[in-house]
Amino acid sequence: MSGERAGQVVRAAARRAPPVLVEIDGEPVEAFAGESVLVAVLAHRPALRRLEFGGEPRAGFCLMGACQDCWVEIEGIGGARACTTSVSAGLRISTKAAAR
Ligand code: FES
Repeated sequence: MSGERAGQVVRAAARRAPPVLVEIDGEPVEAFAGESVLVAVLAHRPALRRLEFGGEPRAGFCLMGACQDCWVEIEGIGGARACTTSVSAGLRISTKAAAR
């Protein structure tokens, strides 16, 4: 998959979960059911979002739901931490809305 080369993370082990399609900022991408939204995004991109104040790239910090650095907007759910939200088929994720 060509998008994985541009990602921040590489899945080092084969997943047992089935691949599912999700949408990230309008772009359909393949992810794996049960992995975090943060991994799904960073497998395809170098950053999750841009810092509101200076535009620096952000990719989460604590990875355990404590720092609030990974907010995204998920259609039908609203604001969610990408690091503690699991991927399921058909999720529509916006990384831009969370930066407002
Ligand atoms: S990376 Fe810290 S809350 Fe998600």
